[in-house]
Amino acid sequence: MSFPVQRLRRLRRTPALRRLVRETELSPGDLVLPLFVAEGLDAPRPIAALPGVDQETLESVVRRVERAVELGVPACILFGIPAVKDATGSGAVAEDGIVQQALRAIRRAVGDAIVCMADTCLDEYTDHGHCGLLTAAGTIDNDATIAAYGAVAVSQAAAGADIIGPSGMMDGQVAAIRDALDRSGFAEVAVMAYAAKFASAFYGPFREAAGSKPQFGDRRSHQLDVANGREALREVALDVEEGADLIMVKPALTALDVLTRARQAFPHPLGAYCVSGEYAMVRWAAAAGAFDQAQAMREVHVAIKRAGADFILTYAALELAAALRAEA
Ligand code: PBG
Repeated sequence: MSFPVQRLRRLRRTPALRRLVRETELSPGDLVLPLFVAEGLDAPRPIAALPGVDQETLESVVRRVERAVELGVPACILFGIPAVKDATGSGAVAEDGIVQQALRAIRRAVGDAIVCMADTCLDEYTDHGHCGLLTAAGTIDNDATIAAYGAVAVSQAAAGADIIGPSGMMDGQVAAIRDALDRSGFAEVAVMAYAAKFASAFYGPFREAAGSKPQFGDRRSHQLDVANGREALREVALDVEEGADLIMVKPALTALDVLTRARQAFPHPLGAYCVSGEYAMVRWAAAAGAFDQAQAMREVHVAIKRAGADFILTYAALELAAALRAEA
């Protein structure tokens, strides 16, 4: 060679060398397991659009949590599917609502061995499928909605939630929830802001799982435009100002740049939600023979961590944790 070749391959030669210089480590402790718990089910019901994920009963949700604890997964996030939906989403705030019952059942079974997050929104509970209370004109009434979120958060905290996760993208929702929690004696309950949540096609399978597809219109009047990265950082900054303890970006794969920028700008614990469509995409493509599922799942999650996430909400939490432990 008449020119000097920089030999980066030296450190990729053996598995042990690659292990030594690995920059990003994925572990079960990074994962948060999303769980759908449905009222009035006799047995877990598979979700067609989300292979490997079920709507859980009050009994089966406890079994999933016990499995998570066994595998070293430190947290779950609960989504409720009520038997009856109505215009105001009253099932979200009911003392015997499905999420409230699930929180109590989980606490009875495993105590503090798992962190319980509760998704705080109305879309799973309203008959129109929108994330808030509607005006006569059919638009979402921001301020009435954030007051309702405060009441939902208090009922979730009373049932045992450690972390409240408002996902509705209403202005002022973090401050309204913080205020409601503090006034009700729940100063120790934390808030994880779905700080930068984009209007995404990748929520499709979730809406089938939760029966929360809007009956008219869409969510573009409140969720972020995928084109807007700087605006996403404004959303994060506002939620931090309003008192968010943890911040989160969603979806993950189409917002890796936002994740990296949020990592650089804020010291807060930072999460990413690898959403239903991202998980389903890997599952369906692997089922069609496009690639190896376990390897692709690993790659997706390592990339999300490398981009800056401290923790990842993911439907693959149990399968990833089992694989990681088998290697350890
Ligand atoms: C709203 C909510 C949604 C998701 C989490 N919380 C759906 C939406 O905004 O339509 C999507 C999560 C996923 O796709 O996995 N309560």
